[in-house]
Amino acid sequence: AESLRVGVAGLGTVGASVVRVLSEKADAIAARAGRPVMVTAVSARDKGRDRGLKLDGVAWHMDPSQLARSNDVDLVVELIGGANGAARACVETAIERGRPVVTANKALLAKHGVAIAKAAEKAGVAVGFEAAVAGGVPVVKTLREALAGNDVSRVFGILNGTCNYILTRMERDRIGFAECLAEAQRLGYAEADPTFDVGGFDAAHKLALLTTLAFGVETDADGIYVEGITSITPFDLQMAEELGYRVKLLGVTTRGEGGIEQRVHPSMLPKDSAIARVDGVTNAVEIDGDVVGALVLAGPGAGGDATASAVIADIVDIARGVRRPVFGIPAEQLAAPKRAPMQTHQGGYYIR
Ligand code: NDP
Ligand code: HSE
Repeated sequence: AESLRVGVAGLGTVGASVVRVLSEKADAIAARAGRPVMVTAVSARDKGRDRGLKLDGVAWHMDPSQLARSNDVDLVVELIGGANGAARACVETAIERGRPVVTANKALLAKHGVAIAKAAEKAGVAVGFEAAVAGGVPVVKTLREALAGNDVSRVFGILNGTCNYILTRMERDRIGFAECLAEAQRLGYAEADPTFDVGGFDAAHKLALLTTLAFGVETDADGIYVEGITSITPFDLQMAEELGYRVKLLGVTTRGEGGIEQRVHPSMLPKDSAIARVDGVTNAVEIDGDVVGALVLAGPGAGGDATASAVIADIVDIARGVRRPVFGIPAEQLAAPKRAPMQTHQGGYYIR
C-alpha cells in the first residue's frame, strides 16, 4: 500500500521521540497502520543541533507552515507548542491544504480548538490530539469513543506530570521546589515556559479539553478557577501528611443543574485514596459515567516517549482512514458552555 508521508514540526522532547519511535518500530507500526508510515519532512529552529536522529533524505523546513504546505507531506504532526504563533499557523495551514493534523498542543486547542475543529470538519480532515491530555494516558479516546454511551457527570484527577513530580519529590525526599522543578525540566516533563505547569495553567488547558469531550460544550478555558502549586512548601506537605492527607494538584470538571464548574487547585486527599497514592510523573483521571460507573485511568503523564506513544496512536488512526468529529460530536453542534456558580474560590478541600 502507499506510504503515509508524515511531516513533523517541532523536534524537541516529543518530536524527537516521535521520529525515533516511528523509525525503530516501522514494521510493527506499518502493520497496525495498514501501510508504511514514513517521516518525509521535519521542522525546528536550529538545524545544527544533534538530536540523535537519522534525518538523511528528510526535507528540513525552517518554517513549520512551509512544511504544512509541502507536497511531500500527507499528514502534519505539530509538536512546537504555544497557543499562537508558529504552531497555530502550521495547524491552520495544514487544514487549509486539506491535510490531517496530529498535535499534542493543549494550549492551542484550549484556546482555538473549536475553531480548528470547525475548519477541519468543513475541510473533511481529521485532527488527533490524544497526546494533548495526560501524555500517554488514553483519556481522549476513552471519553470520545469508549464512553460514547454514557452521560458523564464529572471528570477529575491529576493532569500535570511536572506538578505531581514536584509534589512527590518535595514530600518524599524533602527537596526544595526549585530543585524539583529543575529536575522535571531535565527529564523533559515541563513546558517550555514552566509557569504553565506550576501555575496550574497547563492542567487548566487539559481540563478545558476534557470538559468539551465529556459534556459536548465549547471549550471555556477562561471559565476555569486556576490556582497552582508555587506557594506550597515541604512543610505544608509534612503537616498534611501528619493529618492523614496528601496534597495533589487536581483538575475537576463537574456538570450539575446549575451548569458546569471547572477548577484547578491543590487539594488535600485522604492518604489511602486512589488518587492520593499516584506518585511522580504519573497522571490519573477518574470519569464518572451513568452507564459505566466510575472509571480510573492512570499512567505516564509527560515525557518524550510516553507522549510519542499517544501521538503515534493518532497517526495510525489517520493512516487507517479514521475521521471522527474532533471532539466526538461535530464542532458545529457543541453547545455554549453554561458556567455554574463556583462552590468556592479557595483550594485546599478534598474530593471523596
Ligand atoms: P520542546 O520545547 O522540547 O520542543 C519544541 C520544538 O519546537 C523544538 O524542536 C523547537 O525547535 C521547535 N520550535 C519552536 N518554535 C519554533 C518555530 N517558530 N519554528 C520551528 N520550530 C520551532 O517542547 P516539547 O517537545 O516538550 O513539547 C511539544 C508540544 O507537546 C507542546 O505543545 C507541549 O505542550 C506538548 N506536550 C509535551 C509533553 C512533554 O512531556 N514534554 C507532553 C504532552 C504534550 P528547536 O529544537 O530548534 O529549538
Ligand atoms: N508539561 C506537561 C506536564 C506535559 O508536566 O504534564 C504533559 O502534557
